[in-house]
Amino acid sequence: MNAKKVLSAVLAGSMVLSLAACGSSGSSQTAATQAPAASTEAAAAATEAPAASTEAAAADGQIVGIAMPTKSLERWNRDGSYLQKQFESKGYKVELTFSDNKIDQQVKDIEGLIADKVNLLVVAAIDGESLSQVLAEAKEAGIPVISYDRLIMNTDAISYYVSFDNYTVGKLQGEFVRDQLDLDNAAGPFNIEFTAGDPADNNAGFFFNGAYDVLKPYIDSGKLVVPSGQTSFDQVATAQWDTSKAMSRFQNILGSYYSDGTQLDVALCSNDSTALGVTQAIESDYAGSNQVLITGQDGDEANLANIVDGKQTMTVYKAVANEAVATLDLGTAILNGETPDASLIDSAGWDFDCTYDTSSYDNGTGIIPSYLLVPTVVTKDNIQKELVDTGYYTMDDKGYPHPVG
Ligand code: BGC
Repeated sequence: MNAKKVLSAVLAGSMVLSLAACGSSGSSQTAATQAPAASTEAAAAATEAPAASTEAAAADGQIVGIAMPTKSLERWNRDGSYLQKQFESKGYKVELTFSDNKIDQQVKDIEGLIADKVNLLVVAAIDGESLSQVLAEAKEAGIPVISYDRLIMNTDAISYYVSFDNYTVGKLQGEFVRDQLDLDNAAGPFNIEFTAGDPADNNAGFFFNGAYDVLKPYIDSGKLVVPSGQTSFDQVATAQWDTSKAMSRFQNILGSYYSDGTQLDVALCSNDSTALGVTQAIESDYAGSNQVLITGQDGDEANLANIVDGKQTMTVYKAVANEAVATLDLGTAILNGETPDASLIDSAGWDFDCTYDTSSYDNGTGIIPSYLLVPTVVTKDNIQKELVDTGYYTMDDKGYPHPVG
């Protein structure tokens, strides 16, 4: 934690004290609890704040419905669990659903939460286009909705969006490739293939565009070559972010364009679940012996093991524990009848960076005000510093990281 952050954590502690007096809320206490390695200053500031019991009483009886997409993609398990812990720590009751990546199931699950009279909905959509009707029912019932991580499209029922800066996630991947290959100086050409995410997920286009915008000039100049010719989002997308679909597509690419000994230098994958499939395809079907540069996102356990073993090169880590903290404070402010804006970032006293964005995310009904957290590049060299020292993961005695919580 740098000096600025320590200061803001300490300020946050005193802010919680003063806010508690007027019945408002801040979550620096839980933020500190959530990230065990947060500085002792932050922890001390948090322990001094006697706000928890007041807040718990205030939240008493209020129910938060949390709808996550699926347990089959690792990160949503972590999101569900962090969100549940955060809201429960402030006295809310939580109903948490996972919908097996089935759109109809998620609609039913949200209908169930509405029927249970939840006071707030936090929804990470499976298909951003398919929730308009059920969320109209939520609006009718007066239930505020936070669009969590993925923007829900074509509904005026959502008031806020909490996520990471999704375009930056892709940009970091593109810049990593550019810097590793030293594209501005190296002679090249280098061969690259792209694998993107689920077209039903509004994030997937942001990730792909972020990466592609960095690399396009090098593709245009011929320094980067895409032997498959697949460079549009639709060509490289992976339904449901599915590992085996990413693997099959990549096996086809390797069979069709690389079986003559053509060298593959880079597999740019938008996230870890697709990177896992691509890595498996390379292990089973790639004839070359060079180390292919493979990108990812999330810090999934299997991918971090691959990074330690040198099979995947990087992942873009998003601290979903902090995303849960931001969602808690936003949700609490909404339930308190406030209209949160940029000032929430300071008043909540988060010890992580976040921007308030009122221009990037239009869901078809207008711009949705967004709280965007900042992603981090993780490689073999900084796993310890970024994931273990921060308290998000523990390292086992063989040197493999495992998520906490
Ligand atoms: C999330 C990514 C995740 C992907 C698949 C996206 O909406 O932002 O972190 O890798 O879904 O679960």
